[in-house]
Amino acid sequence: MFGRDRLDLKTPDQIRSMRLAGVVVGETLELIREQARPGVTTGDLDKAAEDFIRGKGATPSFLGYHGYKGSLCVSVNEEVVHGIPGPRALRVGDLLSIDCGAILDGWHGDAAISLIVGGREAGSAPDLGLIDATEASLWAGIAALAVGSPLYDVGAAVEDCIVDAARVNGVTYGIIEDYVGHGIGTEMHQDPQVPNYRVRDRGPIVRSGLTVAIEPMVTLGSAETDVLDDEWTVVTEDGSRAAHWENSVAVTDAGLWVLTALDGGKDRLKALGAPYAPLD
Ligand code: MF3
Ligand code: CO
Repeated sequence: MFGRDRLDLKTPDQIRSMRLAGVVVGETLELIREQARPGVTTGDLDKAAEDFIRGKGATPSFLGYHGYKGSLCVSVNEEVVHGIPGPRALRVGDLLSIDCGAILDGWHGDAAISLIVGGREAGSAPDLGLIDATEASLWAGIAALAVGSPLYDVGAAVEDCIVDAARVNGVTYGIIEDYVGHGIGTEMHQDPQVPNYRVRDRGPIVRSGLTVAIEPMVTLGSAETDVLDDEWTVVTEDGSRAAHWENSVAVTDAGLWVLTALDGGKDRLKALGAPYAPLD
């Protein structure tokens, strides 16, 4: 399927524009991480995110996307992704996944984090292990991006990381296959799709100027999902808790720039031995 995998490559100037959108997303997520306290509603978080994004001169990209009524997706516990913000009050120990997208000067950023309401000390060992393993798998997937490499090496790296973590933690994880990462640029979702798990194909060869969102979703049980009657909220079929981490990343000949990470990915890439290559 060559058509579906066609790569929309960005110039250095376009990547710099995407970085500005990515920073808005990264800053929004940091703000929301601070505000995600017991008693706060998911709707409160959404309002704070929308105000912050607009205050930066950007637009929330999720709002109105296929009729979606939020600026964030806030997915709680067994909700995997696309949880709609509303009157639900957060409780100590809830596992939150917060997904945020913004458009600045026509360019998109898209990222997600997972956390425990009340801080890590309020999290169970399995929940903390899941959150950390999923974050580690995101970075392993990002580090697998390189000019000249098959794109689907990303999913293989994610899966290897999750399998390793499962062995170390003495648990089994489910890696969601019903939703995938994607190209990003002047639209939130562009070609190519990026599976967050190992597939048989190699996918397209990565070229300089590729910008993609990598977004592993991992559960403490089954990888099977259902969509609730609200037609958005994706939940695990077995009720197990899920985590979701995402970053938008630019690949150039010099290496990687993690557009939605406030440090550009410098520290995590260095730790993985992957080339950090900011364009600013
Ligand atoms: N940010 C999600 C993704 O990673 C999509 C959000 S769906 C929306 O692809 F409806 F909320 F926009
Ligand atoms: Co995305």
